[in-house]
Amino acid sequence: MTSRSLIEDGLLTGITSFRIWLILYGGLLIFIDTVFCTYFPTTVLGTILLTGVLWKFRLPLASKDDVEGFFGVSFRPSLQLDDNLDPTSNTPIQDQPGLTVKSRLLLMRSPPSQLSTSSSNGQKNGQKNGGRIVSEAPLIVVGHRGAGLDAPENSLSAIRECKNRGCEAVEFDVNLTKDNIPVLFHDDNLIRIAGIDRNIKDMTLDELKKVDISIMHPLGDRFRKERVPTFEEAVNLCLSIGMKFIIDLKDDDETVIAAVVSLFQKHQCYSMGIVSSFYVKAVYDVRRRDPKIIGCMAWRPGYYRYTTWSSNWENLEPRQKSLYMDWAAIIMDAVNDWGINCLYWWFVGLSAILFQKDSITREETYRWMKRDVRIYAWTVNSPLEKLHFVQNVQLGYLTDSLDGGEVNTVNSLQSSPNQKTFSILRT
Ligand SMILES: *[C@@H]1O[C@H](CO)[C@@H](O)[C@H](O)[C@H]1NC(C)=O
Repeated sequence: MTSRSLIEDGLLTGITSFRIWLILYGGLLIFIDTVFCTYFPTTVLGTILLTGVLWKFRLPLASKDDVEGFFGVSFRPSLQLDDNLDPTSNTPIQDQPGLTVKSRLLLMRSPPSQLSTSSSNGQKNGQKNGGRIVSEAPLIVVGHRGAGLDAPENSLSAIRECKNRGCEAVEFDVNLTKDNIPVLFHDDNLIRIAGIDRNIKDMTLDELKKVDISIMHPLGDRFRKERVPTFEEAVNLCLSIGMKFIIDLKDDDETVIAAVVSLFQKHQCYSMGIVSSFYVKAVYDVRRRDPKIIGCMAWRPGYYRYTTWSSNWENLEPRQKSLYMDWAAIIMDAVNDWGINCLYWWFVGLSAILFQKDSITREETYRWMKRDVRIYAWTVNSPLEKLHFVQNVQLGYLTDSLDGGEVNTVNSLQSSPNQKTFSILRT
C-alpha cells in the first residue's frame, strides 16, 4: 500500500463511521462548554454520550488463562519472588512492580517440562508451591518473521528452525495474492526476498508457489526451493509442532481478517496465537468478531510520518510528498500516540504491546505491567542488547536471529544452574 492511501484510508474510515461522529459530537459538546462556558447540560449530555458510546463499543479482554497460556505468568507485583538486588535502581524492591532479575531467572530455570509448555491445546501447567508461583516461564524470545536472518523470513523452514533451536514463538506477516489467498509475506514486492521485480498482489498463488524465496538469503544454500507458505499452512505447522505465533496484520482487509478469525475458531487455538497490528482498526475488527482472540498492537514513533524509524532523526524519510499530507501525518501520529497510551488498550482490549526497542524505558515497562499489558521490544538483534532488555528493562523481545540470545542462555542455565550468566552487566 502506498503511504498516501494509509492516511486516505484512515480519513475515509473516519468519515464513514457513525461511531466516530458520535464520539466527535460528544467531544465537541464538552469543548464548546469548556471554552465558551456555555450551558451546563451540554457538558453532562456530552459526557454521557461519549462515555456511553465508548462503553457500548468497548471490547472485553481475552481470558486471563489464554493470555497466561501464551505469555507465561504475568509479571505482577503480587508474585512473591524477589531479591534485594536490582542493578538498575536505588528504589527498594518492594516498591517496584514486576519481577526482579533473580526471579526472572528462577522462572527461566524452571524444569524443562515446564519450560516447553507449548502444546496444541495450550494447556497451562502453572501450580502454586509454598506461595511461590512456579508455573510456565515467561515467553521471552519471539522469532521476528520466524527469525528471518537464520532462515528465509516468513517461511515454514524458519518456523521449524525456531522450534529446533528452542524458541517458543514466531511472528509473521500476512498478505494477499491476486486470487485472494492469504500468504505469509512482508513486502509488496518479491525483489528483496527473491530478486524478482513483481508485486505479490499481481500474482496468483500458483505463480507465487513457483518462486524460490531462499535466493537472496545469506544461508540460502541450506534452504533451496523454499516457497511462500499460505497462512493456513503456516498455522497448521505451528499448531502441529507446538509453536506459538503472532500474526501481524498490515491492513484491515476483510479477506485476511475473515481468514484469521475462522482459523482461530476452527482450531480453538486462543492460547497459541495472537493478532497484532499497527492499525487499531485491524485489531478492533478481528476482536469484534471474536473477542476470545488475544489483541496486541505494534507501535513506533512517527509511524504515519516516516517510512522507517531510527533514533537518528537525520536519516528519517517522510512518507508524504506534499506539505499538507505531512501535516496530516503529524496529526495522525499524535492521535495514534495518545490513543495507544490512553484509549486503545482499554477500548480494543489489548493484552500486549510491541514497542520499537529504542523508545522503551523501564518506567514505560512498569506502567504497562501495572495495566497487565505485556510489552515486547522489537527488533533486538545484538546479543548485548538482548541482555540489556532481559536484565535491565526486564522484557522479552522479537529478534531476527536466535544467535546470542536467551534461548541459549536458558539452556545453559539449565545445564549448570549456578553459572552466573548475567553477572557481566551487574558490576
Ligand atoms: C501487503 O503488504 C503491503 C506491504 O507491507 C501492505 O501495505 C499491505 O497492506 C498488505 N496487504 C494486506 C492485505 O495485508
